[in-house]
Amino acid sequence: MTAALCPGSFDPPTNGHIDVIERTSRHFQRVVVAVIANPSKHPLFSLAERQEMLADGLSHLTNIEIDSFDGLLVDFARRAGVTVVVKGLRAVSDFEYELQMAEMNAALAPGLDTMFVTAKPAWAFLSSSLVKEVARFGGAVEGLVPERVATALKERFAAG
Ligand code: PNS
Repeated sequence: MTAALCPGSFDPPTNGHIDVIERTSRHFQRVVVAVIANPSKHPLFSLAERQEMLADGLSHLTNIEIDSFDGLLVDFARRAGVTVVVKGLRAVSDFEYELQMAEMNAALAPGLDTMFVTAKPAWAFLSSSLVKEVARFGGAVEGLVPERVATALKERFAAG
């Protein structure tokens, strides 16, 4: 069974993430979306909140599993029985770091391949960090993130 792993911080998930996962789900029978539990960046949303937001934004797809991991991605990939990692690329600026990670993961786990999906131009400017910054200062993020994420951002920043 062909399976793919879409890992990330997803703090929070954006429409760009949802699009990459949606498109991955058309090409693989099983897609494991793995949320890193403790990203080095201090997350705004808890692991449970990030998983819940992904489950909601991807509820129209039937071949998605939402999971989480700590430590090395290659160890999680082995446990999950997945040999393909799929990442989104927005611009050339993403490529250098993504290439380093892909090569490191391949060196750590020969046989684990990374494939890249190019972001839709409509989402090329979108990042979780920018979305948080806009929401923090009261800007509108509707249309950039799933509805539930927009609501969660509003509530989080209204609460101070
Ligand atoms: O959404 P992000 O922040 O770009 O996701 C980055 C992520 C979680 C995919 C990456 O940081 C990762 O794989 N972390 C796990 C630690 C690891 O395996 N490091 C060595 C591989 S280069």
